[in-house]
Amino acid sequence: MTKFRDKTYEERLSEIAGQNKELMSTYLKYVNSELSNITENYISSFPVPIGILRELKVNNKTYIVPIATEEPSVVAAANKGAKMLGNVTVTHEVPTYKLVQILSTDKNIIDFTKNYEQEIIDVANNSFPSIVQRGGGALFVQTREINDQYFSIHIQVDTKDAMGANIVNTMGEAVANFYKENKIDVVTSIVSNLNLGAVFKASTQIKLDLDVLKKIKELADFGQLDIYRASTENKGFLNGAAGVVLATGNDWRSFEAGAHAYASLNGQYKSFTTYQIDLKNNQLVLSAEIPVSLGTVGGSIQSHPIALANLKLLKVQSADELSSIVIATGLAQTFAAMYALVTTGIQSGHMKMQKRLN
Ligand code: MEV
Repeated sequence: MTKFRDKTYEERLSEIAGQNKELMSTYLKYVNSELSNITENYISSFPVPIGILRELKVNNKTYIVPIATEEPSVVAAANKGAKMLGNVTVTHEVPTYKLVQILSTDKNIIDFTKNYEQEIIDVANNSFPSIVQRGGGALFVQTREINDQYFSIHIQVDTKDAMGANIVNTMGEAVANFYKENKIDVVTSIVSNLNLGAVFKASTQIKLDLDVLKKIKELADFGQLDIYRASTENKGFLNGAAGVVLATGNDWRSFEAGAHAYASLNGQYKSFTTYQIDLKNNQLVLSAEIPVSLGTVGGSIQSHPIALANLKLLKVQSADELSSIVIATGLAQTFAAMYALVTTGIQSGHMKMQKRLN
């Protein structure tokens, strides 16, 4: 019998939905042959609406930003937040890199790695010569003793503008084999989504009425003190930020996992954004810091016509520029939510959109 994955599209569809004409016609309506190679067992596509953030100013450059979201009023809020905030300054350590971990319970891995650092870098680079030709490649090797039984080797890799998971995973496996050939026991190797090599910082300030200023600061303090509030505040940030990540064909789960891990780096999960008030000038000073490890080429981006169109719309020259837009969008989005929460409340915007849906 032919396996499901080896059947033709028509055979698969009829096996899954053949008994139900309505189901079948809905799946057929959203089928897109250009996307059918991205996943196994393709049956149809799940369209997520793209709304436009008309004007986002980052480092004094203005962008038209596509946000993919299923949530009503996110895009309206992003527009409002971006307009109120004006220019957002984004900085990051140069150059950004991606990270692969080799996990081991063999203590010998620490000394071996220190003694053979250059060989390890060479093994990594030889496993993916095309990235070296493009001016990237493995940069550094670090050893970590998680405790006296668990060890991790980090290899930092410059993947240029590629998302890089495939590149670093290929390198990680090659290095893991090198350890094994040298009688060092390895559990596995895999990319780490907590990438301190791609930490971006966005900041700006805004003049507000004193009452609003104080209330936003109080609300922000909850996000720094209380995990229950922090998770919701951060969700508001991600409404915008992850929407841009998704719209550009990037892996939003890895982005979100990295952001959450970074937000709990010191042991307590906190909001991504910190707020300070400058009472002399009635100003709120906002600042967000998270890893934003993305790509503008490679992976599924190349196979996704809408991701490519959205990247063209953004006119970004590099993955780092895209990361700056993502974090700035998050800042505008969370600010709009915080502002609404302490003024009109969040439901008025949501309800307006719900009326349009019903
Ligand atoms: C809703 O999607 C997002 C908010 O809950 C964010 C927040 O509470 O800051 C409004």
